[in-house]
Amino acid sequence: MRGIVRIFSGIQPTGRKHLGNYIGAITQYVAGQDRGNPAIYCIVDLHATTVAYDPAELRERVLDTTAILIAAGLDPDRCVLFRQGDVAEHTELCWLLSSVTELGRLNRMHQFRDKSVAQRELVSAGLLMYPVLQAADVLVYRAHEVPVGEDQREHLELMRDVAERFNARYGDLLVVPKHRIPEVGARVRDLQEPERKMSTTGGTPQGTVLVLDEPNVVLKKFKRAVTDSEDPPTIRRGAGKAGITNLIEILASVRGSEPADVERDFANARYGDFKVAVGEEVAAWLAPVRERYEALRADEDALEGALAAGAGKARALASETLRDVRRAMGVGPPGG
Ligand code: TRP
Repeated sequence: MRGIVRIFSGIQPTGRKHLGNYIGAITQYVAGQDRGNPAIYCIVDLHATTVAYDPAELRERVLDTTAILIAAGLDPDRCVLFRQGDVAEHTELCWLLSSVTELGRLNRMHQFRDKSVAQRELVSAGLLMYPVLQAADVLVYRAHEVPVGEDQREHLELMRDVAERFNARYGDLLVVPKHRIPEVGARVRDLQEPERKMSTTGGTPQGTVLVLDEPNVVLKKFKRAVTDSEDPPTIRRGAGKAGITNLIEILASVRGSEPADVERDFANARYGDFKVAVGEEVAAWLAPVRERYEALRADEDALEGALAAGAGKARALASETLRDVRRAMGVGPPGG
């Protein structure tokens, strides 16, 4: 039975999704389909234009992402899966919300600071507005829950603030959403540098397992995973054992079991054998996703068709909020 919870999440358009994304975010999106009324998943092409990018490549990456999500188990008939740029209500609400957004606060956002420093040519106003567009993404659907990683905490706080200020000024029209942080995936570490989170931008290439890696590549990355020099070597979680802890937690997620079960199963195993076992199970787990991806990605018309249908459903929901917001703000013709 479906609840009354409306779920929204935004996903960056990239084909380079890694195991941390998969365990943390994507499996949670799939589970959300049964809980969400509806679950709404948006591929954020407009956000991708806030830093240097290539237009033709952006189109490709949106399709890559769509195919990965469907391959992972999102069913376009059971959720709302669409491309942000297809639904103009997001940008319109972004503008309207900018009137209740504090400039100083945008200027202090950590991601804005970090990304500004990383830009070689232009620090665009779009980069500053990024969090306002993100607020509009969620608020336009009056979503209750936003499943995203810890790194989005500041964006979620701003979003809640914007909704509260809007409601105080114009009347209670917007839902103030809650952040929902996935428990496991947030912890997936780089296999080479387990002190760091797995990441396609900040991690090591050998320590980052991509969802679309071939099985032999997955296995190789696990075989080379960094462990520790405990004597005798033991498969258990603990201080100074970031590498082994990571492997235990990855395998527990893949099996849908508890880390303690993994420790028990491998109590007498050697590190080398344990790494092979984890690598083989992860490779076998990802292989069908990769195969489905290849088949889906080859049919671009079908992907575009799925996105267009999703955009239609999204627009129907978003336009109701826009009508209320415009009316409350005195924008456009009376009566909306
Ligand atoms: N900023 C998010 C990220 O980098 C993506 C995103 C855009 C998002 N709009 C959103 C996430 C709305 C949650 C809700 O991952």
